Amino acid sequence: MKANSLRELLVEELKDLYDAEHQLIKALPKMAEAASSEDLRAAIEEHLEKTEQQAERLKQVFSQLDESPKAQKCKGMEGLIKEGTDIIKEDDMDPEVKDAAIISAAQRVEHYEIAGYGCVRTWANLLGENEVASLLEQTLEEEKGADQTLTQIAEEINVEAGAGEVKGEEAEEEEETPATARRGRTSSRRKPAA
Ligand SMILES: [Fe+2]
Repeated sequence: MKANSLRELLVEELKDLYDAEHQLIKALPKMAEAASSEDLRAAIEEHLEKTEQQAERLKQVFSQLDESPKAQKCKGMEGLIKEGTDIIKEDDMDPEVKDAAIISAAQRVEHYEIAGYGCVRTWANLLGENEVASLLEQTLEEEKGADQTLTQIAEEINVEAGAGEVKGEEAEEEEETPATARRGRTSSRRKPAA
């Protein structure tokens, strides 16, 4: 990346984000398909629609800056997507654990985009490009919203994924019910039905 001014840096980073959004448009359907949770699948599909709009919005941004929309290979997104697809390929994974891993991969993507859009929005503001700044702000808010949705979904899925594995749980239970412990109990912890 070569830039000698903040404006050039802004344009370079926008090309990077433009490529990142297009990589995601290709990757998100595969992630949605690999998800077991209906909520997770729906959230990813909804974000795919948003991502398509965000790529369009970047076209508006380029035109506002009198630049033609160009993509520049975003290696960061490439790496994040590669990690996500490695998870998807695992076919002997517990579905809840796999969903937890998909959420983790998706949240890394969102945080990466939040950082990218936050920077370009701030630079556009500094350069007096108010229209551009407000378009980028809109996308930034959408990315933050997607991240929050994923956190909400994760709250349930993570618990399901970790059912029966919580360290110290057994010791506590024994303390509370010594009689049961003496009788030699069978495992009382079962995975909740999905
Ligand atoms: Fe995006």
